[in-house]
Amino acid sequence: MNDSSDFAAPGPAAGYARSVAKILVLHGPNLNLLGDREPEVYGRTSLADLDTALIRQAEAAGDTLASYQSNAEHELVERVQAARHDTTAFILINPAAFTHTSVALRDALAAAALPFIEVHLSNPHAREPFRRQSYFSDLAVGVVAGFGADSYRYALDAAVKRLASA
Ligand code: DQA
Repeated sequence: MNDSSDFAAPGPAAGYARSVAKILVLHGPNLNLLGDREPEVYGRTSLADLDTALIRQAEAAGDTLASYQSNAEHELVERVQAARHDTTAFILINPAAFTHTSVALRDALAAAALPFIEVHLSNPHAREPFRRQSYFSDLAVGVVAGFGADSYRYALDAAVKRLASA
């Protein structure tokens, strides 16, 4: 019998503060229009409000969060490349339309070898057939889709938990 009550060995959760992790959120093309863009599909939360909520959520968990949006594939590739050397520990990415097209962004994430979660506001599987293909899902730690802005919230929660247990 393994009774830990008498000989409780201190584990990572027993009084040791873990280090602050740096989380990067990447938003792909047209997500700068969040709130205005097809609100019946993508919701009414602006990108600025969404990012502010994520920063607060990360900080409440003891981590930090930086966010970056671009409409340009090469800029997202370059941001992922930069993440290899800037102490980023985890990436949340909504590749938006690049989900279905971008081998370049997939390759950048594979090269970075950082854990990431693929995030979507809508559920691409409940939409047009071309949205069912993702160049990211098989490399991702997980995929969160279909919950509007809450998809990011759930993904960040999962990232924080994973970082805490790493
Ligand atoms: C999206 C889904 C994609 O199919 C689409 O191209 C987007 C947004 C989403 O968050 O639901 O731009 O990634």
